[in-house]
Amino acid sequence: MKAIILAGGSGTRLYPVTIPTNKHFLPIYNKPMIYYPLSLVMLLGIRDVLFIVNPEDINDFKKLFKDGSHLGMNIQYQIQEKPNGLAEGLILAEDFIRNDNICYMLGDNVFFGHDLVKIMADAKNEIEENGGAYVFGYYVKDPERFGIVEFDEHGNVKSIEEKPEKPKSNYAVVGMYFYDNKAVEIAKKVKPSDRGELEITSVNEEYLKKGKLKVKLLGRGFAWFDAGTHDSFLEAGEFVATIEKKTGLMIGCIEEIAYNNGWITKEQLLNLAKPLKKTDYGRYLTELAKEL
Ligand code: DAU
Repeated sequence: MKAIILAGGSGTRLYPVTIPTNKHFLPIYNKPMIYYPLSLVMLLGIRDVLFIVNPEDINDFKKLFKDGSHLGMNIQYQIQEKPNGLAEGLILAEDFIRNDNICYMLGDNVFFGHDLVKIMADAKNEIEENGGAYVFGYYVKDPERFGIVEFDEHGNVKSIEEKPEKPKSNYAVVGMYFYDNKAVEIAKKVKPSDRGELEITSVNEEYLKKGKLKVKLLGRGFAWFDAGTHDSFLEAGEFVATIEKKTGLMIGCIEEIAYNNGWITKEQLLNLAKPLKKTDYGRYLTELAKEL
């Protein structure tokens, strides 16, 4: 399985903050927003990652992640000329994906929860064994903002709609999707929505029509933030700060995960810590190298 992380878009819901910069570089507490989805992909053991980025931001992304080899990974970049919608990322990633299955992550989503990685691994295994699409639902109070999934009385998925004016449920589809290889061909057939975007919800709807869409609900043990608005951005930062201070452990620390995965050596970890030595982040990495 390969991972694609969507990090383009216009970020207009965070204006004026995102006029001069890409939202994915903004700090959720002590690290850039984009570290969070990348860290989850790494926790799943996926080393091949493609970032979908805006033309004007590609060099900044390269500055941050280079070719990924310092993390023991293979990181590539694909320009999306305009924010034509989430499903376009699948089309643009065709050459990268080839015959693989896909873990598709939104760059502005932050997740935290007990067993999260196990739940993601279950989704990955399900796709690898049986194909189809596997997505997650999360209860929200403002369903007009999201892709919304409706269930029948037996808990089967009945419909899925993007930002409905009259939502049929309060279950939002979160920004973490698992697809078999057919997703690329499905995305190619998607027509622009009323807001002019190729919606990822249309891809999910197609899987639903084929009877190949699985939805798992993330319950009360999980926190999910779509950090693309001022309030949710702040909430995500406060949440991460609280958990990290309480537990003494970091959320979304990509160097730590690379080290724990055995993708980099202790020396490499210490080298990554060096330029960060004036920060708690850097000290955390140095301590880690001492521990094990
Ligand atoms: O956060 C979950 C929601 O994300 C889902 O419930 C919705 O179904 C889904 O459409 C999406 O809605 P948003 O309106 O929140 O998407 P947004 O425009 O914020 O874009 C999500 C991420 O994808 C963000 O990191 C920017 C990036 N992006 C977005 C667009 C439109 C791209 O890379 N390319 C794009 O063309």
